[in-house]
Amino acid sequence: MMPATSFTLVTGATKGIGRAITEKLLAQGENVVGIARRADPGFPAPLLLADLADHAARKQVLAQAMASYPVLRLVNNAGFNRMQPLGEITADAYDEVLNLNLGVTIDATQAVLPAMRAAGFGRIVNISSRSLLGRMGGSMYSAAKAGLVGLTRSWALELAAQGITVNCVAPGPVATEMFAHNNPPHLPRTQAMLAAIPMARMGTPEEIAGAVGYFLSAGASFTTGQTLFVCGGASISQSQY
Ligand SMILES: NC(=O)c1ccc[n+]([C@@H]2O[C@H](COP(=O)([O-])OP(=O)(O)OC[C@H]3O[C@@H](n4cnc5c(N)ncnc54)[C@H](OP(=O)(O)O)[C@@H]3O)[C@@H](O)[C@H]2O)c1
Repeated sequence: MMPATSFTLVTGATKGIGRAITEKLLAQGENVVGIARRADPGFPAPLLLADLADHAARKQVLAQAMASYPVLRLVNNAGFNRMQPLGEITADAYDEVLNLNLGVTIDATQAVLPAMRAAGFGRIVNISSRSLLGRMGGSMYSAAKAGLVGLTRSWALELAAQGITVNCVAPGPVATEMFAHNNPPHLPRTQAMLAAIPMARMGTPEEIAGAVGYFLSAGASFTTGQTLFVCGGASISQSQY
């Protein structure tokens, strides 16, 4: 049975894209609970603190979220990139990249699933990246983000008959802390990546939140298993960055 009120759980909610998603949903009068590692006194919704990369900590925080809030929507937003060209890829780095992008998404989705199944309703949005099409020097990130498309499509099939939709948003370059950390402006590869965007600019977190909001909305009730590129046209331009 559907609870009277419900919450959207946003992983990686305090900054960048997760913050914009949170603010958009709150502005629409919806309830949000976020997860991040560090406290943020200005965060406008309940915030649970945990390093989601840590298996025990994430199991605990996800259990806490589900015990405290009626979560029926989930945005798997927390992610991690480590640029390492082929030949220099380390086991530590691929463990980190695959764990945070795929492992956290799998565990968070499995944590919310019983409540969604009980309600006969659920909305899941996975945040991938345009890099799923290929990323020079970032093959682990590309593989992890492409993996999210596989999870999205497979879970959409498994859950379609239960009122639960699963969709994916694949952003192009967006001006956030993560982007600045991974793409220093002086590097030729950063300049080439930005030059390959047909709209000739980076996206804003709010522009990504717009697409996520659509998949979470009542208007998207017949849409599942889809990946929407929100990338200023970069996905139909060069695909190596
Ligand atoms: N920015 C882009 O250009 C771009 C493009 C394509 C896809 N994406 C994807 O969009 C998603 C969000 O990226 P963003 O650029 O918005 O990142 P961001 O601005 O760096 O924000 C990351 C958020 O996640 C939290 N976080 C990071 N690691 C965490 C962990 N281990 N456990 C719990 N929380 C964690 C951060 O808070 P704390 O630091 O306090 O934990 C913060 O709230 C990622 O999946 C990323 O791969 C981004």
